[in-house]
Amino acid sequence: MKRIKSGINGIDILLQGGLPEKRTVLLSGSCGTGKSIFAAHFINQGLSMGENCVYVTFEESAHNLIDNLGSIGMNFEAMEKAGKLKIIGGAIGNIKFFKEKTKASAKDMAEEIKEVVLEIKAKRIVLDSLNLFLMLFDTDTERRHAMAELSSVFENISCTTIMTCEVKEGTRDLSWYGFEEFVVDGVISLYRVPFENMFERAVSVIKMRGINHSPNIVALQIRDDGIHVFPTKAPFHKIFG
Ligand SMILES: Nc1ncnc2c1ncn2[C@@H]1O[C@H](COP(=O)(O)OP(=O)(O)OP(=O)(O)O)[C@@H](O)[C@H]1O
Ligand SMILES: [Mg+2]
Repeated sequence: MKRIKSGINGIDILLQGGLPEKRTVLLSGSCGTGKSIFAAHFINQGLSMGENCVYVTFEESAHNLIDNLGSIGMNFEAMEKAGKLKIIGGAIGNIKFFKEKTKASAKDMAEEIKEVVLEIKAKRIVLDSLNLFLMLFDTDTERRHAMAELSSVFENISCTTIMTCEVKEGTRDLSWYGFEEFVVDGVISLYRVPFENMFERAVSVIKMRGINHSPNIVALQIRDDGIHVFPTKAPFHKIFG
């Protein structure tokens, strides 16, 4: 299985060589754990190696995303102008309105993403976030169906994909609805737990099909230049009592 650089050195070390190429990884964590920044490192790494990329956001406008990432030194605006990066989506309320108006199905939406991916021959995709995408559907059955449609469209486009997924604070959940983690090839979990008078950050690879990854929970920091993972440093705090 070919490996690709995730954009975060410590993660590639935990994975003993990097993310599996052309597979889909779920990046789970509660709010503010660094999911979007992690995903941006993944895109930035691809761009720096000349790969075109697609960032699908349901969290915010492309403008806000570019603004936020500018603060950790990533210039996505220039890459977008150069046609190497496409940022699609927008705030979830607008997407829901559009979906209801056009009666778009999960398949239609997945196909729309696929079209953009094929148009620029992208190698990497981020979907930020999967739980917001699934929130567009009303029942659990519809959401499972939407996940299946999304996976089957993505399976045919030969890209490496990161899907971010919010989890409820203070739980060991790996996804919002409880089934997303079973459909994907890998799961990486980001943590933020109280330690003395601060919150401590950590990360662990939960599963990665076909890869003998590290089982450890290790320290992670977010700084002005983004995420740093310390593959040999355990967090001070015992993450799960
Ligand atoms: N320059 C910086 N230095 C240190 N920490 C930062 C910096 N910029 C952002 N952060 C931290 O990163 C967090 C945001 O990370 P990010 O947006 O990737 O999280 P997220 O998991 O995607 O959150 P959400 O659930 O809201 O989508 C901020 O809440 C802040 O704690
Ligand atoms: Mg986010």
